[in-house]
Amino acid sequence: MRDPRLQATETVMPTQVGITQGALFDIFQHGMLTENGDVHTRRRSSLSRALVHQIAEEFRQQVRRSAWTLISECYDRGCLDLTSGYAAKLPILALANLLEIPKADVSSFIRDVHDMNEFFRPAPTEEAVRYAEHAALRLRTYLDGHKENPKACRPGSFLSRYLTLAQEDGLMRLEVLVQIVQLIIGGTESVRTSLVAQTVHLVSEPDQWSAVCSDPTLVPNAVAEALRYEPGIAGVVRISLDDIDIDGWTLPAGQLVLLSTLSALRDERVFDRPDVFDISRPNLQLAQLAFGGGAHRCVADALGRAELEEGLTALVERLPQLRLDSAPAFQGHHFVRKTTGCQVRWQP
Ligand code: HEM
Repeated sequence: MRDPRLQATETVMPTQVGITQGALFDIFQHGMLTENGDVHTRRRSSLSRALVHQIAEEFRQQVRRSAWTLISECYDRGCLDLTSGYAAKLPILALANLLEIPKADVSSFIRDVHDMNEFFRPAPTEEAVRYAEHAALRLRTYLDGHKENPKACRPGSFLSRYLTLAQEDGLMRLEVLVQIVQLIIGGTESVRTSLVAQTVHLVSEPDQWSAVCSDPTLVPNAVAEALRYEPGIAGVVRISLDDIDIDGWTLPAGQLVLLSTLSALRDERVFDRPDVFDISRPNLQLAQLAFGGGAHRCVADALGRAELEEGLTALVERLPQLRLDSAPAFQGHHFVRKTTGCQVRWQP
């Protein structure tokens, strides 16, 4: 990910599928994720400086409250689709709070984020892409009218800090809006898939599930092992600037290249018994590769970790007798991965 012969893909990806303008295209043209060099640094800097430790701590507490509320709402029913009823909702509620979206707007915010994200999931249909374009435009327009002035935000909040820093750094309004949209894209799908994956793999190993229920200080280990074993993002896409020799094979210049973290995180030269889910591995810190590396390394890994840890802690504390009724499938091998429904039950 630090190899100078590879760079971010700019607008190559949407152009390849015939998208050359519009709200989805703007996400690639004006966002940090697909940008290179100084422009990338300028777009990322204000956002990463706004995400200070105190913000991550407040974020964690709010995620904890949301997780407990979501469980309380369905507790008496004794069953839940973990994917749609918990894992999809928790990250969007967390972002709605981070972005100070008023309660009355949260359900349309959730709908638009869901529809826009369809474009970034594996193999979107033409209809899904059309919906995603409308949703991306609605979301951007909404955010534009939402809060422009840092003084209108909660004092000391992420949003007030970000808007102030972005103004000081001279970011255009469109750039600010697109970075917020990228925060939403980055902060929803990966977390949703990971929340399902970590629960499913842990519950499927009853001894390890019981160990975490008895000792929730093991939650960070369980989250790290789940990120290694079944990461929510399968890899990062780059473009080659030069011919690159790999073990005697030539990767030609100008090609899209997938750096597969999904594969690297099961490298048998690094991880003993890589296909075994084991929360007591000695080298779990290496699972941070799931957050990428180099200049584009996840700008909000502390928030991602907070959501996964709090999301799991709430489940082990409230529903220690959780059982799987149906196991989900995890799909996608290049960027964002997708999970199907996952029925769970417990004795209320
Ligand atoms: C399970 C949680 C998460 C995982 C596994 C994850 C993974 C990643 C990876 C692999 C990258 C690098 C992409 C690349 O190099 O092309 C990345 C970048 C990024 N992530 Fe995350 N992420 C997570 C959570 C989050 C959250 C919660 C947010 C926002 C609230 C977020 C926002 C972003 C953004 C904006 C970038 C682009 C950074 C840049 O280009 O400089 N991510 N993430």
